[in-house]
Formats: sequence, structure tokens, C-alpha cells
Amino acid sequence: MRYFEPFIGGGAVCFSRYGVPSPFKWTGGKRRLLPEIVAAFGDRWTHRADCHISDMNADLINVYHVMRDNNDELRERLEAYQNLYDLAVHEGLSRGHGLDCAQDLFYSIRAVDPTGLTQVEQAARLIFLIQTCFNGLYRVNQRGSFNTPYGKYRRATIVAPTLKLCGQALRDCHIAQGDFEVTTSGASDGDLVYFDPPYIPISATSAFTGYTAAGFTMADQERLAWWFTTLVARGATCVASNAYSPTVVSLYSEHTLYALTTQRTQAAMSGSRGAIQEYLIVGGKS
Ligand SMILES: C[S@@+](CC[C@H](N)C(=O)[O-])C[C@H]1O[C@@H](n2cnc3c(N)ncnc32)[C@H](O)[C@@H]1O
Repeated sequence: MRYFEPFIGGGAVCFSRYGVPSPFKWTGGKRRLLPEIVAAFGDRWTHRADCHISDMNADLINVYHVMRDNNDELRERLEAYQNLYDLAVHEGLSRGHGLDCAQDLFYSIRAVDPTGLTQVEQAARLIFLIQTCFNGLYRVNQRGSFNTPYGKYRRATIVAPTLKLCGQALRDCHIAQGDFEVTTSGASDGDLVYFDPPYIPISATSAFTGYTAAGFTMADQERLAWWFTTLVARGATCVASNAYSPTVVSLYSEHTLYALTTQRTQAAMSGSRGAIQEYLIVGGKS
């Protein structure tokens, strides 16, 4: 039995298999819905399985490779960022300049061209930016440059206490960069697959699909629903998350849909927070 997670993001679901929280934030993270997602897979969730994680986002996949293969060096670089950040906050506050120094630090690190950095440096820079930017939102422009503004935090966890444990958990995982259909093409009878794609927009203002420069279109949503059904027909157990939208109901009409209530965490577009609903789609044997 294998476990596939092709929209890995912050990895909350995958890391929960090892009992550790994700060491960095990610928009759409599933920490709050873990009990429902795990229950949807049934008894086989706890079985040991070969883990296959992937994502389209190459910068993110580099973070996973570095976390697994260069964990100590990554920690050193993150500790250096943590010290710089804490110092900048302290200096600004003690001089009556608020978070100005920390903000300058954030923008100077955001301005660095990552192509000139080593893979470990790129991973550390990305974790620093995610942990200190507005709402932990990974967003890039058409050229692929990170463009989320500063998040104004007095305290930011740049070195997570679980960094080492997460690196150890990743030793069991095959890590790949690519489109979901390609990276799960080997899934078959008895395998478990969790899909957590960018959601179908439920309103013009909620349309955040910018995790990658290419975005995630309605044609991608249709392709995903077709692929979900294809893997279920092969004998895999598939679970997917998506928005509380009538389009989701019609795309996944052959499968079982559960409406879950959760807290909105990503308020980048609407500026609103509060309870929202979303669908958990379950297909195949449990
Ligand atoms: C909602 S996030 C996943 C959240 C994640 N499960 C978590 O717990 O943090 C969606 C992810 O889909 C990725 N993505 C976008 N298009 C993709 C594609 N065609 N194939 C695979 N991944 C894609 C994005 O890079 C992003 O990381």
C-alpha cells in the first residue's frame, strides 16, 4: 500500500502520519481538518505505507528535499534568520520605530534573487519569507518572484521545534515536483490518495489560485475530478478537499461528499475571517 499526496503544500496531512505538525505555514493548510480527513481514509490510514509527496511548486519541493537531506545546515541558516529578525524587532521597538527595522529586513531578503543562492539558502529564505509575510501567503508574480507583503509580526517562528522530526519523517518519502496527474500516475489498487488542490472560487473575491505562476484553472478542476474517478476505478481510495460550491457537487456527483465547517485562515483577498464550509469528497473502498 502506498500513500500519495500530490498537492503537498505545508504537508499538514502527510506529517500527521508521523505525529508531527508542519514546520511552516501554507495557505489552505489542513491542520484544523485533520480528524475528518484521517477518518475518511478508514482503518488503513495507520498502516505503514510508502509515502509519495509532490507539488507543482518547485521552490516548495526544494524545501522538502533540503529539510530531508540537509536538515542541520537548514537549521543553522534558519537560526541566523531568527536572530536577525528578533534583533530587528527589538531594535525598532526600543527606538520607538515600531516594526520598521523588521520590515526593512523582510523586504531586503525578499529582494534577493534566489537563483544566485544554493539550494539550502533558497529553502531557508523561503521559510523565512513564509513565516514573516502577510498571513503566511505564498504568492508569486508572473515572473515567479515572491510578492506577498510583510506580515508585521512581533514574534515569528522561523525555526520550528519540529524541524528535525519532520526531516526524519521525510526519509520515508519519495519527493517529486510536477503536475498531480503525472506524480500519481502509478497509484493503483489498494493505494491511498489525498488531493488538496487550489479551491474552485466561490466568489470573485475568493479567487486565490496563485500558488504557482501557472495558476489552477477550471479545466484543471475538471481534469482533477476525472482523474479522481479514474483512480477510484483502479481500486485506489481517494479523498479530496474543495470549496463548498455547486460546481464541486456536479464534478464529483459519483462520489460521497461531506460538508465540513472550518475557520477561514486565508483572508488575503476578502479581509474577512470566520466559519466557512468546504467539501470533503470520498471515493473508493475505506
Ligand atoms: C491548497 S494548497 C495545499 C495545502 C496543503 N495540503 C497543506 O496542508 O498545507 C494547493 C497546492 O497545490 C499546488 N498546485 C497547484 N497546481 C498544481 C498542479 N497542477 N499539480 C500539483 N500541485 C499543484 C500549489 O503549489 C499548492 O501548494
